[in-house]
Amino acid sequence: MRRRVYLDNNATTPVLPEVLEAMRPYFGEHFGNASSIHHHGQETRAAVERARESVAALVGCRASEVVFTSGGTEGDNLAIFGLTDSGDHVITSTVEHHAVLNSCKRLAAQGCEVTYIPVDGRGLLDPADVKRAIRPNTKLITIMLANNETGVVQPVAEIGQIASEAEIYFHTDAVQAAGKIPIDVNKIGCDLLTISGHKLHGPQGVGALYVRKGTGLEPMLHGGSHERSRRAGTENVPGIVGLGKAAELAVAGFARGDDCADQTMAATRDHLERELLDIEATGLNGEGAPRVPNTTNIYFDGIEGEALVIALDLKGLAVSTGAACSSGAIEPSHVLTAMGLRPDRARASIRFSLGKQNTAEDVDFALALVSKTVERLRELSPVWPRSEVSR
Ligand SMILES: Cc1ncc(COP(=O)(O)O)c(C=O)c1O
Repeated sequence: MRRRVYLDNNATTPVLPEVLEAMRPYFGEHFGNASSIHHHGQETRAAVERARESVAALVGCRASEVVFTSGGTEGDNLAIFGLTDSGDHVITSTVEHHAVLNSCKRLAAQGCEVTYIPVDGRGLLDPADVKRAIRPNTKLITIMLANNETGVVQPVAEIGQIASEAEIYFHTDAVQAAGKIPIDVNKIGCDLLTISGHKLHGPQGVGALYVRKGTGLEPMLHGGSHERSRRAGTENVPGIVGLGKAAELAVAGFARGDDCADQTMAATRDHLERELLDIEATGLNGEGAPRVPNTTNIYFDGIEGEALVIALDLKGLAVSTGAACSSGAIEPSHVLTAMGLRPDRARASIRFSLGKQNTAEDVDFALALVSKTVERLRELSPVWPRSEVSR
């Protein structure tokens, strides 16, 4: 059987065995509706509330400030549409995930004004630009914590400070940061923060939005009074239990210092990165910026990223050209072009993202395969050798 190595953990992570075990009873004997007052309901209600405590511990907030959602996209939408009205001004960045960018596009169509803060060549925005963009009608700043394509971590605490001084709501999409680096909503100074289960070895289709106490958030879904009337709909109990367990494991990992945030993950990623950068005519996207420890994004001049992804997949290695939802799109990555990459370089870029399940052997397998495949594709490329690549 072909060996398969998965280095696309920013697209989704495998559910950890402990998480699956924690979820299993909630597909079977513990089936109650968490809103029911009888024994079956109380059993699942207790499980949901335990999970809420675990998620709160992951981001440093109170359990009552956690709203369970169907994932990162819903969390971002709830934060953005739940706070804004026509006539409001919103500040975001050019490198956000489409869950934020397309929500902002929709806001603009509904009569809001949106300012997109640019980033520099490292992928970092300047908090001073955020400050300068503030207007009397600015209602919300929404800037991501870690970028899904490059792993670049934005200076969110500085933005939080600016937002708080100006008394403007600050939302951060922490989907790609949760479980990888410690998060504390009070240190960031944000009012809302999105996480998603499947990016931290929990299940797909569940997430959470931190909503600071006192934030006047309008619900998007109307129905029962679930989640303190902030998100109607019967809770996804198995999913929530899985997210809670994943959060608990992440917190325990941070405490032990052997999790994603520690030296092991960073060292494995750095080894992978160093070796890949040894291949001729390559470069690191996001160089010089702080990054989460699991992600590296590298361009291979003279290569079509999509072709490389397909060729590697045929040999058993799963990587990505960037956001999974834009794979197959002809347009180069909006994140990389916002960082000033030439379109051909943006198209020649590949994201490698590690998860807790990956080993040093996985990285060695990837390294051998990538260098061979890049060489072979370059032999076939009409824009190679390097001297013929436009600069
Ligand atoms: C930064 C970021 N925000 C939001 C999302 C959307 O999360 P979900 O897939 O849970 O809807 C993703 C998923 O790729 C992401 O990377």
